[in-house]
Amino acid sequence: MKLHEKLNSKGYAIFSIENMKVFKKLRDSVTHKIFNKAEKNINHLRKKMAKMSNIEINRSMINLLSFSEGSEMMINSCQNIVEELCGKELFIQRRANTIFNLPGKDQRRQWPHYEMMSGISPFTYVLWAPFHDLDDDGGVYYFDKKKSYAIMKKEYSKGIVNGPDILKMSHNEKPIKLNFGEAIVFNPFILHGNTAFESEFARIACSIRFQSTKKPLMQRNSDFLKYYKIN
Ligand SMILES: [Fe+2]
Repeated sequence: MKLHEKLNSKGYAIFSIENMKVFKKLRDSVTHKIFNKAEKNINHLRKKMAKMSNIEINRSMINLLSFSEGSEMMINSCQNIVEELCGKELFIQRRANTIFNLPGKDQRRQWPHYEMMSGISPFTYVLWAPFHDLDDDGGVYYFDKKKSYAIMKKEYSKGIVNGPDILKMSHNEKPIKLNFGEAIVFNPFILHGNTAFESEFARIACSIRFQSTKKPLMQRNSDFLKYYKIN
């Protein structure tokens, strides 16, 4: 089944990253910035991160601000997939997100949400990839299209968006277990979120949003997106 067919049926699709050389370079650049030194053993870094305080996490986020090539690297590592969905001429998020998920009950979580709520256009796709195998529950769970749309329709009938029905939903969903080298792409209507999890390792992942330049934008424009052409 082609990727866009998978996306049409479920609203999300898992695929293998095509250019692992670029993706590994991205991982090395990000981890180098976070920890201020080169460290090839990702699990060593994840263990260190799991013990970091909120201030230390914020400090590593500040370190990351000087790294601005992440978005191109993310797109370049998955060029054929991106081109199949949106063509060669793109609007891409200016800065790819680096996302940490720390173990333990008192950590920040992403409640169930869909990306449309942040003002991106309905023609945007989100690409999400972990920097290591996801062998615990530190990943992200996704509701398929049928379930996501049914919840949204119910909200719509009440005139609300990402309101209490979604916010109070339990976090009993099982996160998808991806291997390093796999990524997930999903449309902006798919509900997804994190759960609290127990592990000695933190989870580190990267995400980027992109759309075709032929499709209209919504609130998000040049503050958030930049023009990018696949060679
Ligand atoms: Fe999200």
